[in-house]
Amino acid sequence: MAVNPFKPTAGANPPQLVGRDALIDEFLESIEDGPGAPGRLTIFSGPRGIGKTVMLNAVADQVQANHQWVVIHETATPGFLDRITRTAGQQLDPKRRRLTGVTLPSYLGGGGLSFAPTPEPARSGFRETASLLLDQCEAGQTGLLITLDEVRTSTELAQLAADIQHLIREDREIAIAFAGIPSAVNELLNDQLTTFLRRADRKDLDDVPLADVAQALQATITDNGRTIDPDALSTAATATGGYPFMIQLVGYHIWRKSTGDHITARAVAAGVQQARTRLGSLVHAAALRELSEVDRTFLLAMAQDEGPARIADIARRMGKDTRYAQVYRGRLIAAGMITPAGYGKVQFAIPYLRDYLIEHAAHQEMSGRGEPT
Ligand SMILES: Nc1ncnc2c1ncn2[C@@H]1O[C@H](COP(=O)(O)OP(=O)(O)OP(=O)(O)O)[C@@H](O)[C@H]1O
Ligand SMILES: [Mg+2]
Repeated sequence: MAVNPFKPTAGANPPQLVGRDALIDEFLESIEDGPGAPGRLTIFSGPRGIGKTVMLNAVADQVQANHQWVVIHETATPGFLDRITRTAGQQLDPKRRRLTGVTLPSYLGGGGLSFAPTPEPARSGFRETASLLLDQCEAGQTGLLITLDEVRTSTELAQLAADIQHLIREDREIAIAFAGIPSAVNELLNDQLTTFLRRADRKDLDDVPLADVAQALQATITDNGRTIDPDALSTAATATGGYPFMIQLVGYHIWRKSTGDHITARAVAAGVQQARTRLGSLVHAAALRELSEVDRTFLLAMAQDEGPARIADIARRMGKDTRYAQVYRGRLIAAGMITPAGYGKVQFAIPYLRDYLIEHAAHQEMSGRGEPT
């Protein structure tokens, strides 16, 4: 039996990357345009599961395949700058690598002299190593792309930004693609230590068009030896809400639920149900855990409306004034949980989040309080 081609796993490359061609092309153009192209410093931002990590993978694969650049992938957890430096050092050919270590001439280090060499200050050495690697790349008409996932402010990030700023100013063949959730990216861009990053090209990733989703589901299914009814396909595409993580979950579960080589409406109904359950435990629960209690109360108040909710109604349900609710509106937009939906209104940014909130225990806290209507 054919292997399930869908990849409902964080960071796993999907069988088809839906709706991101224009963004990838733009990044590739910046590589062709040469040093100084603004896209060479790009930040991909968006809520959990929107496809930030696979975007980094996609641009890196293309830059590697089309331009033979050296690519270094890292995640911005502590120690990342050392890890990047080490990886860059490993890419150096042995002749150049020797230059990175400080070798004292024997008449200095060879004993007899009473002073010790000043120890290297505790800094990254990133800039030096990257410069050597860039010499090597540029000699072969290529360059260096660094991707850094899950960015947030830190002294290490400030150091990296300062070093990159120098390398860009020196017109080196370097590009860097960052990814992070909006709140972390906002914080980074507001940080005085990383003002340089404000000139980065920020790309806010969004849901993708349903027509593209349907096409990708269909192509993936037929490329892997199965077929699907047109009606069933349209139901499946609609159920994804255009949310990338859900594309993989729906695809994966409708494939699993089908018994033969043909995916029926019945298999789609069962698969979509399963996908929604998985979305709840994989995405909703994780996203809600990162929020404060008041944030969650705001979302619960909002979930009482079927469509977009008015801030004024949310405030009233929370028993607070509109100004108070506005603060949490801003926080939740930055956290990628909600988006503005016309004047004075907001909507959920992740499909089925409303249903999840209603179905889960926290709901009782809120309904216990009651709503004066
Ligand atoms: N454009 C896309 N088309 C189809 N599937 C996609 C697309 N983008 C992402 N996916 C799928 O969605 C899931 C989530 O992608 P990814 O891990 O890149 O999200 P993320 O934004 O990095 O999430 P997080 O903030 O949790 O790290 C993966 O299963 C991936 O294969
Ligand atoms: Mg990610």
